[in-house]
Amino acid sequence: MPADTLTVVDNRTGREYSLPIVDGAIRATDLRQISAAEGDGGLMSYDPAYLNTASCRSAITYIDGDAGILRYRGYPIEQVAEQATFLETAYLLLEGELPTADRLARWEEDVRLHTYVHTNVTKFLEGFRYDAHPMGMLLGAIGALSTFYPDAKEIGDPESRYLQRVRLMAKFPTIAAFIFRHSRGLPYVLPRNDLDYVGNFVNMTFEIGGRHEPNPVLQRALEILLILHADHEQNCSTSAVRGVGSSHVDPFSAMSAGIAALYGPLHGGANEAVLRMLDEVGDKKNVPGFIESVKGGGGRLMGFGHRVYKSYDPRAKLIKQVADQVFEQTGLNPKLEIALELERIALEDEYFVSRKLYPNVDFYSGLIYQAMGYPTDYFTVLFALGRLPGWIAQWEELLNDPEQKISRPRQIFVGPDERSFVPMSDR
Ligand code: CMC
Repeated sequence: MPADTLTVVDNRTGREYSLPIVDGAIRATDLRQISAAEGDGGLMSYDPAYLNTASCRSAITYIDGDAGILRYRGYPIEQVAEQATFLETAYLLLEGELPTADRLARWEEDVRLHTYVHTNVTKFLEGFRYDAHPMGMLLGAIGALSTFYPDAKEIGDPESRYLQRVRLMAKFPTIAAFIFRHSRGLPYVLPRNDLDYVGNFVNMTFEIGGRHEPNPVLQRALEILLILHADHEQNCSTSAVRGVGSSHVDPFSAMSAGIAALYGPLHGGANEAVLRMLDEVGDKKNVPGFIESVKGGGGRLMGFGHRVYKSYDPRAKLIKQVADQVFEQTGLNPKLEIALELERIALEDEYFVSRKLYPNVDFYSGLIYQAMGYPTDYFTVLFALGRLPGWIAQWEELLNDPEQKISRPRQIFVGPDERSFVPMSDR
């Protein structure tokens, strides 16, 4: 019997099967041969929420959740966050290698040349109500880009894919900034191509009367946050991008599916929820009572826990350092005191320790965004801007993977057996 196999005995039939193990996994389709009766379709695996199912082979991001390790294309996140720019990180995720100086310059130039959006984009943004949630506007606007670029349907053409990649990376910050201005009733600020990627975005959000005094420390802090969010393997939004992309729709529509998934409070919306939670706690002295209510089932400690990390999220560690630099510039935020106390108590509490619940990327990021001047409901837009290169890289990897097909899970039917339709008069 070859060593890299799994022997399965079906006790219903007494038959024995040998399933190959490759890269620590068996293929779910290999279970199909295990059948108890003719026509039963064979054995399926049942895995709600994909707790133990690999949906793809990927060479982009490596996570070891127990050891708290995150690497982009092999490079530790700590080194990327310290040394790279966001566009350089995007290049790394998309191309698989760090760019040479020439290649980076060309990539930056390509993105710079596509920062403007069609003026009709501003017209449909006008149609949103003054209090529309920025994520609702973002998912609509990014999805709508597909109507401006019908050539984006050419997903099998690498040149077309490169162009859409550039358009997405270039226009996303412009649209995100326009949304910010729309929410505040401020006139849109057009892209300035003499500024770098982050500088231009910050300028488009905060410029007033043609003026904005850039703060290099805050801009680098924002850039690090974008880098830390750039990819995180098969999370909910990335799986949404892959699932929708597997239908071979254009990338703008696939990215808007990712934005929709990120909007949810259990995913990208968590940093927004953390700030609301800190408001609810209100004061450091209320922290022990709040922790007790969480333990008693009265809600979750937002910004804590992770499906994959069962130790301290390495991104949260880096974000805490960024928070120190930011608060040195902006002054201390009273909510930070509450957050630090929540973290201190939770990390000592048996409930959180035994469940391996540690702060995740969202615990401190919201406090930083707030200190920078971004409103709470805008935080997830910043997360989406950071995650964009990861979504695009994962989408392209899916398209180039000959094993992938349209995403189509199976189900275990538990509904009623056949019954006759009851006419309205008899109900
Ligand atoms: N506060 C209190 N209890 C929690 C929390 C929390 N934040 N997270 C998990 N638990 C408990 C949960 O009640 C369960 O307890 P029990 O075994 O007694 O029923 C146990 O821990 C396991 O939880 P789970 O729901 O099975 O874990 P999951 O892997 O399905 O959930 C999670 C992961 C991130 C959705 C969850 O930890 C959570 O809701 N956290 C708060 C929201 C949050 O911060 N989300 C951001 C995630 S990181 C950013 C991103 O990648 O999007």
